[in-house]
Amino acid sequence: MVVRSILAGCGGYLPQQVVTNNDLAARGVETTDEWIVQRTGIAQRHFATEGETTSDLATKAAQAALTQAGLSAHDVDLIVVATTTPDNVFPSTATRVQAKLGVTRGFAFDVQAVCSGFVYALTMADNAIRLGQAKTAVVIGAETLSRLLDWEDRTTCVLFGDGAGAVVLQAGEGQGDATDRGIISTCLHADGTQYDHLYVDGGVGSTGTFGHMRMDGREVFRHAVQRLSEVVDEILEKNKLAADAIDWLVPHQANQRIIDGLAKKLHLPPERVVMTVSKHANTSAASIPLALNAAVADGRIQKGQMVLMDAMGGGFTRGAALVRM
Ligand code: UT7
Repeated sequence: MVVRSILAGCGGYLPQQVVTNNDLAARGVETTDEWIVQRTGIAQRHFATEGETTSDLATKAAQAALTQAGLSAHDVDLIVVATTTPDNVFPSTATRVQAKLGVTRGFAFDVQAVCSGFVYALTMADNAIRLGQAKTAVVIGAETLSRLLDWEDRTTCVLFGDGAGAVVLQAGEGQGDATDRGIISTCLHADGTQYDHLYVDGGVGSTGTFGHMRMDGREVFRHAVQRLSEVVDEILEKNKLAADAIDWLVPHQANQRIIDGLAKKLHLPPERVVMTVSKHANTSAASIPLALNAAVADGRIQKGQMVLMDAMGGGFTRGAALVRM
């Protein structure tokens, strides 16, 4: 028998303020609903209100995931938050969430891998569970990306939104093959030499400011489908699975065209791909758990089904996770 991290519940939270593409144009961004929908599939995004922080969104998502799992915050002994937009430089947003959940036991830390953050965080929590360092973990992807946007740069400011998604992982047992429930396999990569294509032009150790998002969209797009399909091929091969073993693709929600391109390469029909980018735009680390939560909540994803998650982000971090629900 082997230890498996079983996905016991998931949850999501989107801030109440909804901003449509037309709202952005009305606010002075030189764009149109037609351009944004055609190029990205995005129709709207949610923005946090003043004073609403990443840990506020993360805590709401965590509470929803715990409720679905039938657990209390007092059962949790590990909290991992994937975020690029922490409340403060320190302490970690994960410790802020821990305090907001009203618990003091266990350990908590943040993971920074931008849009791949959730897959990285899930991997770290799975490792801790399989090593016996934790029994119940909450893994959260949470962002207030609206605070990193340059409203003068229409090539980036229309693409992102705020939100949080979470899953609860619990230690369980399996036989060590792909028929087990829980996290079957994960794989991670990064290529920091590609820094210039997607970055924030500030930081504590460089400018002393937090800066704004900068992206060479065309270049990121060019790499995305290729590099995402590489991690997907790798994880399927490692587990001796064919693409048709995947019941659901739950990809990072950056651009509908990237997701369509990947699904096509995998020969997965659109009915087996979860797409939520139209509703919340690119929420970076929050996008996979938000999409997962949406498809669990509406009954599409069922217990026992195989889910493949994949993501790519700044620093050209990439990752994939195979999870049997
Ligand atoms: O999570 C990972 C991070 N990011 C991504 O995955 C994003 C990857 N990249 C993309 O999704 C796409 O490259 C974009 C959506 C960012 C851009 O789409 P594109 O089809 O690559 O457009 P483009 O950059 O080639 O721009 C085409 C035109 C340009 O005008 P000209 O030079 O052809 O006259 C842009 O100036 O569209 C113009 N444009 C806009 N027009 C209206 C750029 N942004 C906008 C805008 N509204 N918001």
